[in-house]
Amino acid sequence: MSDIDDQALSARIAINAPIAACVTQAAGILAEGGVNEPRASARRLVAAACNLSPSAMLARESKAISGEARELLLGYLRRRLSHEPVSKILGQRSFWKSEFLVSQAVLDPRPDTELLIEIAVEKLAHRRHEPLRILDLGTGSGAILCALLQEFPTSTGSGVDISADACAIANENIERHGLAKRAEIICGDWTDLSEDEPWDIIVSNPPYIATGAIAGLSPDVRDWDPRVALDGGNDGLDAYRSLGPLIRARLAENGLALLEIGFDQAESVPEVMAGFGLTVEAVNRDLGGNPRVVVVKK
Ligand SMILES: C[S@@+](CC[C@H](N)C(=O)[O-])C[C@H]1O[C@@H](n2cnc3c(N)ncnc32)[C@H](O)[C@@H]1O
Repeated sequence: MSDIDDQALSARIAINAPIAACVTQAAGILAEGGVNEPRASARRLVAAACNLSPSAMLARESKAISGEARELLLGYLRRRLSHEPVSKILGQRSFWKSEFLVSQAVLDPRPDTELLIEIAVEKLAHRRHEPLRILDLGTGSGAILCALLQEFPTSTGSGVDISADACAIANENIERHGLAKRAEIICGDWTDLSEDEPWDIIVSNPPYIATGAIAGLSPDVRDWDPRVALDGGNDGLDAYRSLGPLIRARLAENGLALLEIGFDQAESVPEVMAGFGLTVEAVNRDLGGNPRVVVVKK
């Protein structure tokens, strides 16, 4: 937590200051508060306070910030100084090709998770217009499910989540993206899923951080993503152990399961899956070069 108090904060953003100067000042304040990527946060927060897109803001950088925008910005900066992520402050986050509502009830969908969508699109290109059935286990904001339903236009899908608040956000995202006729959200533990028909695509980005490692995460994650979205038990593998039998029982014979994993789980998660008689086809790396997605078949 930063020790910049409200008065000092307010004094640093001059009334009627040009927008460009507000960005510079805001970035300096966030840097002093130990916030990650302070300039990027400052740009997004100033743009949002001014009700401009970051690119539209470029053309207006010499204009003075309005009193209303300045007040909004001060509020955003106070929140960012508590390490609340920008997406949670603004209530939305881009994922794949769309914007999604997010709140404190859901994990912020991450760019690395887009690899799940990329792999599904590539591996199932030949089935794109089939009426595929998609299951997203631990759907959170519903971002993965929505992205897949958009990429596979004749598919239907279900997202399961144990958090009622997350389910409410996922339902809103489904409505917003016009997918309500093709998607349903099931609120509950994925092990209680009663649906019997096989699924063509099963995806999951489950909680996979070892309990003991949570305290060492960056505060943006540790303090603002829900614990139930992070905590994978003693060795981080609890969720995979409960997903294995489910995938074994519910994946269609020619179906594909895609599981996100942590950077150090490229051997352990395939071992867990193989232990349930599943075939691990590949472990794909993300743009940062870290193992990120395990591709599983029957
Ligand atoms: C890492 S988050 C992923 C959220 C979203 N799919 C994404 O990638 O942005 C994991 C999600 O799994 C849910 N979850 C954890 N354990 C679960 C369980 N046993 N049954 C159903 N959902 C569960 C959490 O509530 C959380 O929303």
